[in-house]
Amino acid sequence: MRILLTENIHEIAKEKLTEEGFKVDLIKHAPSEEEYNKILKNYDVLGIRSKSEITKNIIQNNPHILAIGAFCIGTNQVDLLAANNNGVPVFNAPHSNTRSVAELVLAEMVALSRQLGDRSAKAHTGEWVKSAEGSREVRGKTLGIVGYGHIGSQVSILAESFGLKVLFYDVVKKLPLGNAQPKSNLEDLLAESDFVSLHVPETPETKNMIGSKQLRKMKKGSHLINASRGTVIVIEELVAALKEGHLAGCAIDVFPDEPASNKEKFVSPLQGLKNVILTPHIGGSTEEAQYAIGLEVSESFRKFLRYGTTAGAVNFPNIDLNAKESVTRIMNVHLNEPGVLGELNGFISEAKANIQAQYLSTDHKIGYLVTDLELDHSQMSAQQLADKFISSKRNIKTRIVF
Ligand code: NAI
Repeated sequence: MRILLTENIHEIAKEKLTEEGFKVDLIKHAPSEEEYNKILKNYDVLGIRSKSEITKNIIQNNPHILAIGAFCIGTNQVDLLAANNNGVPVFNAPHSNTRSVAELVLAEMVALSRQLGDRSAKAHTGEWVKSAEGSREVRGKTLGIVGYGHIGSQVSILAESFGLKVLFYDVVKKLPLGNAQPKSNLEDLLAESDFVSLHVPETPETKNMIGSKQLRKMKKGSHLINASRGTVIVIEELVAALKEGHLAGCAIDVFPDEPASNKEKFVSPLQGLKNVILTPHIGGSTEEAQYAIGLEVSESFRKFLRYGTTAGAVNFPNIDLNAKESVTRIMNVHLNEPGVLGELNGFISEAKANIQAQYLSTDHKIGYLVTDLELDHSQMSAQQLADKFISSKRNIKTRIVF
């Protein structure tokens, strides 16, 4: 197996995959479509970050590619439908940077309470603003977390150990950690919190979920933190609440319009306002998160290549498998059409092989069938049987693990 890792993926990924006996090449840049079409001929598996565009053309020109790993959070740089239709699972690392975001939020609560951003900027220009007025400890204050998922729940643990009282609101019933208290509606959480931190995904329901009506519900002098998605807040209405002095400040890491690269200029109506911390979507951007992403996606590759596990793949029927002794495992991706299982199992029956276990998961277009076979009395070798699978008109991909 040969694996190509592009875009300067953390070298822990190469280290782990090499330990497994795979041949790994690491390159620093994001190849163009043309370059990918040339170099991928030599590889079975591809790892990218966010700058590569893995188009339908690349996927169709390289039908031998077994899996793609996005060593980041987002996967919209890959044509997921084309990958699915060609039997290619796409893996990512959605939660490797959870702790990094949670730490930033904690730091921002203290920074907002002490107006650190403004005072630091003034000290840099020679102004000395030594005063206790309006500066407060966070101890004993109330933090309201909106969205109690991976990040929200980590923020909850860290905030409690910092001496804050934690409330949370989630659309799904969640087990409270520590002494955190669930709230049955957003309005109550907003009305009772000194800090509100948003940790919801981007969905039609969360778009513009914090506008002037919700900001009015927040306590006068409270603070808002958003390190989730830029579309969650109506920025102009937040600007108004800050200018009126209803909110004492905010820390915003994500914006409705973000520059596509570090070379583009960043523009926001929040610029220049008092006690407003603006950061360039760096909540999850740490060395540790890059390391954790390298580990997580290389582990997904290992489990897929060794056992056929597709658990966690974002575009593919999920099956979670472990190693099994004394069986031959055939992994088959097929068009999900009536009669296809009968056809494939007919080949096994013809070969007089015994099915030890069989696993199937499907979506509307494809089926993923993993079969563990005892071939002791079989009249065919594993490869001959796999070739039978491949001969089916509905076969997309078939491979064997011994
Ligand atoms: P998650 O999926 O683990 O948790 C999200 C939670 O929000 C879930 O518990 C869900 O039930 C809840 N939720 C969904 N809709 C809701 C609604 N309308 N009201 C209240 N709760 C709702 O997601 P995770 O990993 O905690 O990420 C949270 C957000 O952070 C995402 O938007 C993600 O894109 C963003 N993120 C930002 C980063 C940054 O660099 N600033 C880095 C990583 C993630």
